[in-house]
Amino acid sequence: MDKKTFVNLGRVDQIALGHGRCFVVGGEEIAVFRLRDGKLAAVENRCPHRQGPLSEGLLGSGKVVCPLHGHKFDLASGEGMEKGECVRTFEVREQDGEIILDFSAGG
Ligand code: FES
Repeated sequence: MDKKTFVNLGRVDQIALGHGRCFVVGGEEIAVFRLRDGKLAAVENRCPHRQGPLSEGLLGSGKVVCPLHGHKFDLASGEGMEKGECVRTFEVREQDGEIILDFSAGG
């Protein structure tokens, strides 16, 4: 499906620089990160390994490190460093100080 569904998640400053926060959108948990360079990134919140909350993971070099067992995921591609693991990514941007997430069905 190509239909875009934009969701406003509120002020960008509710996420500290270099951290993430979990939002529930359409019944799905989504981790939104505010990178140190000010850019935003979003992936599904639950780690495919054992459901660790990626929004609480450490950020570095464009990756998030799962807080439970340290598996890493690329924030741009969703690709995991472990074989066969990846997470869904979402487009997200800042507009007038607010977080705009593209929560498109079937993406
Ligand atoms: S739950 Fe994420 S690495 Fe184990």
